[in-house]
Amino acid sequence: MISIILGTRPEIIKLSPIIRELKSEEFFIIHTNQHYSENMDKIFFQELNLPKPKYNLNIGSGTHGEQTGKMLIEIEKVLLKEKPNIVIVQGDTNTVLAGALAASKLKIKVAHVEAGLRSYDKNMPEEINRVLTDHISDYLFAPTEIAKNNLLKEGIKDNIFVVGNTIVDATLQNLEIAEKNDHIKGFFNSVVDKDYFLLTLHRAENVDNRERLERIVNNINELSDIYDYDIIFPIHPRTKKRLIEFNLFDKLKSNKKIKIIEPVGYLEFLILEKNAKLILTDSGGVQEEACILKIPCITLRDNTERPETLEVGSNILVGDNKEKLIKAVELMLNKKRDWKNPFGDGKAGKRIVRILRGII
Ligand code: UD1
Ligand code: UDP
Repeated sequence: MISIILGTRPEIIKLSPIIRELKSEEFFIIHTNQHYSENMDKIFFQELNLPKPKYNLNIGSGTHGEQTGKMLIEIEKVLLKEKPNIVIVQGDTNTVLAGALAASKLKIKVAHVEAGLRSYDKNMPEEINRVLTDHISDYLFAPTEIAKNNLLKEGIKDNIFVVGNTIVDATLQNLEIAEKNDHIKGFFNSVVDKDYFLLTLHRAENVDNRERLERIVNNINELSDIYDYDIIFPIHPRTKKRLIEFNLFDKLKSNKKIKIIEPVGYLEFLILEKNAKLILTDSGGVQEEACILKIPCITLRDNTERPETLEVGSNILVGDNKEKLIKAVELMLNKKRDWKNPFGDGKAGKRIVRILRGII
């Protein structure tokens, strides 16, 4: 029996190709509910047609220690009761670390999907979660050769499988569905009335620091003065909370060219990505999707654990630097979109399930 542990929006999306591939009697889902708002959680189960979690742990938000600690306690109880052979975790959130740690201490095998990513920036909570999870995992599903090499450099040698990233599977499977869906077309027409840039922002290092967040807000406002495009901004709840707390929300809201909307479902988001002139983001998954969909990406961070996107030329890092941002936008708008997708062929989910079936 496989136990899939997930808790946040990107985990639900990136595990969906694996869940679809598994037979119902082969697995069950434990949801930590790290994300719990309707549009960060349930909407993805509905749109992606996923089975309901067998366990909802209702952990919710909190400090790192509080959130991870509560998860550890509750996940352990379920694992002791269910005794799965393997636990699958995906990515680098607190849910991933808690799931991997609880399982490995109980001598349950851990499979880490999207293993080997490194930003080499320990200021990011995600980097700590990734490194620790990789080192306690038994099966490491690396999306690319770069990720595999990162693991080898740290002395992890056994059971590394380069399978591609399941985000390719999810993007290709769901874009086709989105493009045929009249409801999604209706959503698109209700939000979009001219050419636009798409913006997402939520990383702790960007939004929890007032000065840095203010610089980013000012940069976005300046960018919108230069181009006759809208900027569509589905806002992460963490970012909304911080903008309000730091009195910066009105600076964006008062700009008529910036359309702040609530977070949207995956089908809606894929359509917004696919039709954007350019994507501005600090998200991991969005850097990958932009690359896959051939939409130029500008990353509002100083580093990335997705260097493949820089190598193929689909992405540029600008951090919070205004000059870099303005230059990068000009460059990327004129960029030929002929790069190769380095994240695989859309069959990562199938490969992972095939390998796991051979193990159990
Ligand atoms: C988490 C992950 C991050 C990932 C992101 C995906 C960690 C350390 N961070 O960040 O790596 O990129 O998910 O989106 O695991 N909130 C809500 N509703 C929700 C969830 C959160 O309102 O459903 C608000 C709460 O105010 C909460 C804040 O967002 O305090 C932050 O949530 P949290 O889960 O701690 O981290 P994320 O920023 O979502
Ligand atoms: N996403 C979505 N709706 C939105 C914003 C993002 O469905 O309003 C999807 C996006 O397509 C990608 C994933 O959420 O697959 C990325 O999640 P997020 O940026 O929260 O986390 P990260 O990838 O940075 O961990």
